[in-house]
Amino acid sequence: MKFYVITIFPDLIELFANFGIIGRAARSGLIKIEPVNLRDFAYSKHKQTDDEPYGGGPGMIMKPEPPYYAISSVRKADNNTKVILLTPQGREFSQEIAEEFSKEESLCFVCGRYEGFDERIRTMVDSELSIGKYILSGGEIAACAVIDATARLLPGVIGNSESLIAETYGTNPEYPQYTRPAVFKGMEVPQILLSGNHEKIRQWRKEHSYKKGEYK
Ligand code: ADE
Repeated sequence: MKFYVITIFPDLIELFANFGIIGRAARSGLIKIEPVNLRDFAYSKHKQTDDEPYGGGPGMIMKPEPPYYAISSVRKADNNTKVILLTPQGREFSQEIAEEFSKEESLCFVCGRYEGFDERIRTMVDSELSIGKYILSGGEIAACAVIDATARLLPGVIGNSESLIAETYGTNPEYPQYTRPAVFKGMEVPQILLSGNHEKIRQWRKEHSYKKGEYK
């Protein structure tokens, strides 16, 4: 699966694309993450990607031309791609949407800057997506979160043991877990987990399974 990320911070995406499960999937060719530098599509003399807002007001606004040319270039290279603008006003991302996305061949994320973007950029994309009810400075972190959650669902991206964990837990670990040491700063691992009695351990885990929102 192919992921394009249109951004003024391509290095940030490049870094993300090189680590952990995502890095391994990229190296083995299961996914390809391609940062697209917005500045390469800023054709003005000073390669400006933002400008002052008409009507006045604070901050700088992302100009419409660079994302327009960047999106056109991605669509030309890959006419199957779905172009998604990351904004706090978009549809809220979820595991269900990650599953939907994992069936696509290609996605192209456009990272806005929260200071603002020219409203006409909204007409250039297929949909808008938010990763939650809070304001990030830009869409890059959101793009990484969405790519991570989506890529994990592709066949072969997570290894056998990792996949077993995902199946056991669903989207969340369901019960408290411990590893060595058995006592840490006076905090003891429940004796039952050290007992080797698998039936009792299963029972304990069932009784102690997390309730929704328990740690809010
Ligand atoms: N850009 C700024 N805030 C965002 C959010 N919550 N989700 C997606 N993109 C954003």
